[in-house]
Amino acid sequence: MNSKRRILIVFCCLCIVCSAYAQQINIIPQPLKIVEQKGIFEFNDRTRLRLPDDEDYRRIAGFLIKSFQQAAGISIGIASKSSSNDVEFKKVKGMGPEAYKLIVTPDRITIMSTYPNGAFYALQTIYQLLPEYIYRPEKKEGVKWVVPCCEIEDSPRFSYRGMHLDVCSHFFDVDYIKRYIDLIAMHKQNVFHWHLTEDQGWRLEIKKYPQLTEKGSIRKETVIGTLASGVYDGTPYGGYYTQEQVREIVKYAGDRFITVLPEIEMPGHALAAISCFPELSCGLEDKYEPATRWGVFPQVYCPKETTFAFLEDILSEVFDLFPSPLIHIGGDECPKQSWKKCAHCQDMIKKLGLKDEFELQSYFIQRIEKFVNSKGRQIIGWDEILQGGLAPNATVMSWLGEEGGIKAAMQHHDAVMCPHQKYYLDYYQADPSTEKLAMGHYVPLKEVYDYNPVPDTLTAEEKKYITGVQGCVWTEYMKTPERVEYMAYPRALAICEAGWSHAENKNWDSFTHRLEKHFVRLDEKKVNYCRAFYDVEIKVGKDGPYSKVVSLSIDAPDTEIRYTTDGSEPTLSSPLYKMPFVINPSETVKAGGFRGSACTGKITSKGFN
Ligand code: ACM
Ligand code: ZN
Repeated sequence: MNSKRRILIVFCCLCIVCSAYAQQINIIPQPLKIVEQKGIFEFNDRTRLRLPDDEDYRRIAGFLIKSFQQAAGISIGIASKSSSNDVEFKKVKGMGPEAYKLIVTPDRITIMSTYPNGAFYALQTIYQLLPEYIYRPEKKEGVKWVVPCCEIEDSPRFSYRGMHLDVCSHFFDVDYIKRYIDLIAMHKQNVFHWHLTEDQGWRLEIKKYPQLTEKGSIRKETVIGTLASGVYDGTPYGGYYTQEQVREIVKYAGDRFITVLPEIEMPGHALAAISCFPELSCGLEDKYEPATRWGVFPQVYCPKETTFAFLEDILSEVFDLFPSPLIHIGGDECPKQSWKKCAHCQDMIKKLGLKDEFELQSYFIQRIEKFVNSKGRQIIGWDEILQGGLAPNATVMSWLGEEGGIKAAMQHHDAVMCPHQKYYLDYYQADPSTEKLAMGHYVPLKEVYDYNPVPDTLTAEEKKYITGVQGCVWTEYMKTPERVEYMAYPRALAICEAGWSHAENKNWDSFTHRLEKHFVRLDEKKVNYCRAFYDVEIKVGKDGPYSKVVSLSIDAPDTEIRYTTDGSEPTLSSPLYKMPFVINPSETVKAGGFRGSACTGKITSKGFN
């Protein structure tokens, strides 16, 4: 072989290797800047870690050491002196609070950050550069533990990147809460919003009021189907977290740079608490027991001195358990019917010169805010805390739509965006006619991904008050962890990218390619994510009285859609979908996504009679 040809072959091999590695850099959420380089770094028995003398860094290194021990059977030691095959964590000056820089060369990985959480996020990126087996809890043989050489500079778009979990509609044990937190950490999110109290159950041990968990955590039965079914299961349901368990979870989350945001609902959604202490309500309702169906209930706290004293006692224990600078006080969906009839409430409205019950709600929240602020914390509440005037230092969690967030930002209050139309992960994510019961709307992955959490109507100054985003997981129709994961993932990943990746780095096409690579990581962690990504969505548009216009789409990239209209199963030889088409309403459309000879997901079908 002549030398020119040899050079050409070597060059071609290099290109193949490079393009293969280029495909390996598939990170969710998308980093700020990636420069891919030639070569690989290999983790092996000679790999050593070098660390600043700092407890946080030792803990972060501990995660890496444990992963390699479990998945690779490789023991990575800590070294004091530099040598080849090092992974070095370096504290540097001048980087943002969660920022990091990662440099991978063939003989060294250098992780630079000013703060340890930056190093923790760099570690999450390293995991995603490694083969997916690194997420495996047991040893995988025959793997080359390599990462592609590259330089990555990264920092988040928003400081608040949350995932919420309702543990009141259904209860999830400590082990599952830890797993939920693991997934939050894996995706560089930093808040676990723990919805701990509701009409259907009080889930937090309060030492001063043991009745709250002895009685308030148990409902006598649960509605079957939707809240309107009128059919009940006749089985008591309960569960709560002891303070010891809460401390364990707060520590577990903190070790992963996640703040646990506790939510104590008031003045509404308080029936479980009021069922233990009916005297805290206006006393006008005929039933005080933890709710057995979903929805909104008229039994709410009455703004009496005894109620405020009770709530302050509870919040005092909450402050002790949760170091979060924000405390969620609920504030949503408080019906005013009891307040309208209650002599005490009406008297207060008069005495305080308030206009109506909405201003009484504002008084309630402001009074609680004063107490919370006096202990050095700030309140956050759902949209309705805007009713009757926003408390001076409150953050708004905008769920009814964007308007609450917009109003808050215009008043120079912080706002977290989680409009239910986009970020409620209890809504259907696949064709509701073929899914198990879920909540109201149909919100497929792309709609979640495309949502822009910073409304264009805000000025540049006002936009700064949008501090982040959150995915909300209400569990009325989720009894098990598997169901939680099915509903939350992969949509939670679209939200994690909205929270972390800067707007100019967000791109649906890129996300779908990366997501497919990410699914194999979730597979290693046995996450029960929804696979609607691989199914064809069939949309029917209006047309004349005897025709329908059908359009087909699929999220999975590089996939052909083939379909039939005669009721037969689509195969590789069925018509290839190119553009919307017209059918007669008596026909049935069946469609599947194909790559090579295989169907990527299930065949979806729609008849229109
Ligand atoms: C809410 O969904 N009620 C905040
Ligand atoms: Zn009252």
